[in-house]
Amino acid sequence: MTRPKVLTETLHGRKTDRTPIWLMRQAGRYLPEYRALRAKAKNFLDFCYTPDLAVEATLQPVRRYDLDAAILFSDILVVPHGLGQKVWFEEGVGPLLDPIAGADELKRFETGRMVEALAPVYETLRRLKKELPEERTLIGFAGAPWTLASYMIEGGSSRDFAKAKLWAYGRPDSFQQLTDLLVDAVATHLEAQVAAGAEVLQIFDSWAGALDTAAMRRWSLAPIQAIVTRLKRTAPSVPVIVFPRGVATGYRDFAEAGVGHAISLDQHVDPVWARDAVQSKCVVQGNLDPRWLVVGGEGMRQAIHRILDAVGQGPLVFNLGHGCVPETPPEHVAELIETVRSHRSMGR
Ligand code: CP3
Repeated sequence: MTRPKVLTETLHGRKTDRTPIWLMRQAGRYLPEYRALRAKAKNFLDFCYTPDLAVEATLQPVRRYDLDAAILFSDILVVPHGLGQKVWFEEGVGPLLDPIAGADELKRFETGRMVEALAPVYETLRRLKKELPEERTLIGFAGAPWTLASYMIEGGSSRDFAKAKLWAYGRPDSFQQLTDLLVDAVATHLEAQVAAGAEVLQIFDSWAGALDTAAMRRWSLAPIQAIVTRLKRTAPSVPVIVFPRGVATGYRDFAEAGVGHAISLDQHVDPVWARDAVQSKCVVQGNLDPRWLVVGGEGMRQAIHRILDAVGQGPLVFNLGHGCVPETPPEHVAELIETVRSHRSMGR
């Protein structure tokens, strides 16, 4: 008999004997074996599009640690790249894109072309599905429309999202066209990942917190809701984790709207507040400050216990409030997992 997978079970709302744990950016520069692998690729996007390398990068953290899931090694920006926008990563700078300025530029973007361009990503998942030990869950992911739009308009990372907000607030009908295009592209990309073997999906809206509340509902919550509604029809057995980072009390809006099977909380949300406002309605994921993982030791253990004391009775998926940072000492990740596992066995 195959053992039920603890992450999948928790996301379906079924009781498990322990709290599942995985970490955003669990593959990455803090691991020496990742840095060695990364040196073999010409550039970051090539790395993402080379199944041999992407499979290995995905598996590295699950070889080292007792994690309940592996997350596909890829990036949210493969969607605009696959649609036909120029995207590149510059060492020490981050992602750069040839920015778009209006809806008339959307004509050249094509979802069919994206699916063809992203064939290596789906091939990576098919191989992972075969290679991943059975008790671990394979997670696929995509960026949410607002976060993708912000990179596409700003031409890279941004401090104030001036151009993206000027467009969204000032020309909402035109911004809706971009959002509709991205809802279709993201849903299609996620469906293709499910067809290739993804068992759980996560939608990253990393910059949802840049919007005011009304704009957050319109440009973050509503498009994610549209994607999740479509997935309920096309991939009904696959749970979706939604991560609208930085939305503060907006997390309650997501929970009340029933968007997704689980909501991932950033570290700015008090887990005691989240127990009533969010966990009463859906599974929560989170939310250790990734900087505790750099510090480690007693301080980190106390921060973990504060979360588990508030939301540890479940349903909970333990995770960080954002991704692992490059300065993380790898041994602190083992310490974190051990602390979460023993909390349960101590019967707290
Ligand atoms: O382990 C995993 O979580 C899977 C792989 C993954 C990456 N990016 C690999 C990556 C995932 C899930 C992402 C998502 C992603 N990418 C997000 C959403 C999550 C978040 O962090 O808010 C965003 C906003 C991006 C866009 C992106 N990709 C940026 C801004 C950067 C540069 C910043 C940085 O850390 O260098 C990237 C590059 C990137 N994506 C790296 C990795 C491991 C580092 C690049 C390298 O190795 O040279």
